[in-house]
Amino acid sequence: MSLPIRTAIVGTGNRAQLFTEGLAKRDGYDVVALCDPNSVRMAFHNRMLLAAGRRTAHQWPPARFDEMLRVERIELLVVTSVDATHDRYVESALRAGVRVISEKPLTTDAVKAQSILDTVRETGGSLSVAYNYRFNPVHRRVRSLLAEGAIGDVHSVHFEWLLDVSHGADYFRRWHRDKANSGGLMVHKASHHFDLVNWWLGAEPQLVYGRGQLAFYGPGRRHGYAREYSRAHGAASALDDPFALHLADNATLRELYLDAEVEDGYYRDRNVFAPGVTIEDDMALLVSYNTGATMTYHLTAYSPAEGYRVMFNGSRGRLELNVEESTWTTPHQRVTSAKGAVHGDLAAPTAGQTSITLRPLWSPPVDHTVEHDHAGHGGADARVLAALLDSSDGPDNADIADARQAALALVTGLAANRSFETGQPVRTADVLKL
Ligand SMILES: NC(=O)c1ccc[n+]([C@@H]2O[C@H](COP(=O)([O-])OP(=O)(O)OC[C@H]3O[C@@H](n4cnc5c(N)ncnc54)[C@H](O)[C@@H]3O)[C@@H](O)[C@H]2O)c1
Repeated sequence: MSLPIRTAIVGTGNRAQLFTEGLAKRDGYDVVALCDPNSVRMAFHNRMLLAAGRRTAHQWPPARFDEMLRVERIELLVVTSVDATHDRYVESALRAGVRVISEKPLTTDAVKAQSILDTVRETGGSLSVAYNYRFNPVHRRVRSLLAEGAIGDVHSVHFEWLLDVSHGADYFRRWHRDKANSGGLMVHKASHHFDLVNWWLGAEPQLVYGRGQLAFYGPGRRHGYAREYSRAHGAASALDDPFALHLADNATLRELYLDAEVEDGYYRDRNVFAPGVTIEDDMALLVSYNTGATMTYHLTAYSPAEGYRVMFNGSRGRLELNVEESTWTTPHQRVTSAKGAVHGDLAAPTAGQTSITLRPLWSPPVDHTVEHDHAGHGGADARVLAALLDSSDGPDNADIADARQAALALVTGLAANRSFETGQPVRTADVLKL
């Protein structure tokens, strides 16, 4: 029997839990090293390894990353660090001959994305990007209906994604609020949606025109709900603020962030109306594709409810996907479950209906709804993990995003950001050489 694959995880925050747990469960992997600027968060992940009956991993600071790859003889690297830091680790690992699984987005700007693509080409290395939404059974049903020609040729897509004032607000509490870290929601969040459309249609984006605004969050816009404080912990005024996240109430949030902040000053619970927000919360796009299809897309981050609607218009009919992740949101982020529910990890208690409706021309609608569990990104997390870790030739492996597909998912958002700045339509070919 072959030896377990020597694995390292860089960026040991919330998302990394999926990988720590998933790798610890699999005999074929040994997590031998963790890398993060914060030793408290690395220690949290080591406790997870111990709880799963595995050995603890050595803890390494980012400045010694290359040494870590060498000394620990790393064969697989999992990248779950802040978005803007992905490129540095992905590239060094590929140059060292290490297989890489990275969280989305590929990176946050065009220069870094081009550099990753060039490194993949030069090294011939293996980079998979965890675009988990492709593995949600609801999204897979949509793809198979479109591929079967259920609505003929797809001419246009109308796509609206709503983030509610719990989950949506969360991007304005921490590092995502600075575009330099996250690329803004067009990159950090919408790249999931752009990836789905590329994958659903088998299409590549060519031209993007958009308008983005910070309409709701940010300084001076408290709408009569919120209170004055810079971060919620320790602020009496945050107690009755519906937007406040109370880290001390939740064991995971406390251990991962509150107990760790002394080391790096990473405050997870900033006031969403405090200064420092450089991302948009309301974004509208028009995108055209190389198949001739167009998409109108809208993302709102301050909605009363969470979910999405995607309408496909084709030569033989129309396909409608409607998902209600939350039908309304309670005030106060008193999240007390084992895993923080703020970030899509768990089903919202107010989740509603999912439906997939095919409307063929000249005949009654046909229901194609499949079960949607709303948790772990609609069941996608467990499936993407299985595809990434369990076999190299399983039925789902073809759906793992490679570097080029991840760049195609990213380029619509990068072009959108450029269009927001210039007010002009942007050709994706002028953003990235794919
Ligand atoms: N696919 C999905 O559905 C999904 C969901 C959530 C997050 N993510 C992705 O996972 C990644 C992590 O997000 P998160 O929610 O866990 O954030 P987080 O803030 O909980 O964790 C980020 C970690 O990165 C570390 N870090 C900061 N600077 C670093 C550096 N220079 N080098 C190494 N590590 C550094 C932080 O200390 C922290 O431990 C992001 O890329 C995010 O886009 C993906």
